[in-house]
Amino acid sequence: MNEQKNNLAQDPLLPPSELHNIGDGSFVAIGETFVKYFVEVAKITPNDQVLDVGCGTGRMARALTRFLSPQGEYHGIDIVKNSIDWCNEVYSVRHPNFHFHHSDVFNSAYNPEGKVKGSALEFPFESKKFDFVFLTSVFTHMLPADLDRYLSEISRVLKPGGKCFITYFLLYPESLKSVEAGGIHFSQFTPKFAHPYENGCRVDNLTHLEAAIAYPESVIQELYIKHHLNIELPIRYGNWCGRKDAFDFQDVVIATKV
Ligand SMILES: C[S@@+](CC[C@H](N)C(=O)[O-])C[C@H]1O[C@@H](n2cnc3c(N)ncnc32)[C@H](O)[C@@H]1O
Repeated sequence: MNEQKNNLAQDPLLPPSELHNIGDGSFVAIGETFVKYFVEVAKITPNDQVLDVGCGTGRMARALTRFLSPQGEYHGIDIVKNSIDWCNEVYSVRHPNFHFHHSDVFNSAYNPEGKVKGSALEFPFESKKFDFVFLTSVFTHMLPADLDRYLSEISRVLKPGGKCFITYFLLYPESLKSVEAGGIHFSQFTPKFAHPYENGCRVDNLTHLEAAIAYPESVIQELYIKHHLNIELPIRYGNWCGRKDAFDFQDVVIATKV
C-alpha cells in the first residue's frame, strides 16, 4: 500500500488504498510479471480482444496498457462496484479501448450483499468475441457451482482457437500431501486448506468459504472437457504448496477453446 500512496501522483493507474485489497505483493511487479506470461506463454498479440474476469482494481489492466495496441481491446468484469467505477474513471480518459463492467454477484469475501448468483451469471458479451480470457486469483475464491457456470461463459465468449489462462490452487498428490501436513506459511495470505469441502475441494475457512478454495486437479480437468476447453500440458504448478520447481505462486492452467 505504501508503494501505491507514494506513486499515486506519478501513476494515475495505481489504485488508492481505500479500494479493495487484492492480495499480497507488489501491484506493479505482479501485473507486469503476468502480462509477460500472457505474451510469452499464452502468446497474446497487441491487437487481441482480451477479457479479465475478476479484474479487481486493474492490476493486469495497468500492465496491459503498455502492450495492447489501440486496435486491441480490454474488458474487465468485477463484483466490487467502487473499484469498477474508479477503473472506468481513470482509464476512459487515457485508454479508451479499456472498459470495466460491474456484475452484482454474491461472494461472501468480496460482495456479501450481491444480488446475483454466480451460477446464473451471463457475461455481458456476445459469443466468440475474445481471443484471450484470463482470471488471476479469482477461481481461488469461487465455489463449484459458480466456477462451472463461469467456465461455460468463458467457453462461450472465446473464439474457436482462443485461449484462457486461469490460476488455481490445485490438489494433486504432491500438493495434497503438503496440505495434509499443515501447509506452507509464506504470509498471512497463504491459505492452509485445512477443511475438506464438497467434491474433494478444500477450504481455508468454514465460516467464509470463499476466502480461499482449492480444487482437485481431476475436477478441473473434467470441467474443461465438459466446456470444450483443451488443457495445454504441462500444467504450470505453483509454489503455494512448497513445490520447488514452480512457475509462480498459484497453479496456472492454460487451455484452448476447441
Ligand atoms: C484476489 S483478487 C484478484 C484481482 C485481480 N484478478 C488481480 O489479479 O489483481 C480477487 C478478485 O476476484 C473478484 N471476484 C470474486 N468473485 C467474483 C465473481 N463471482 N465474479 C467476478 N469477480 C469476482 C473479487 O472482487 C476480486 O477483485
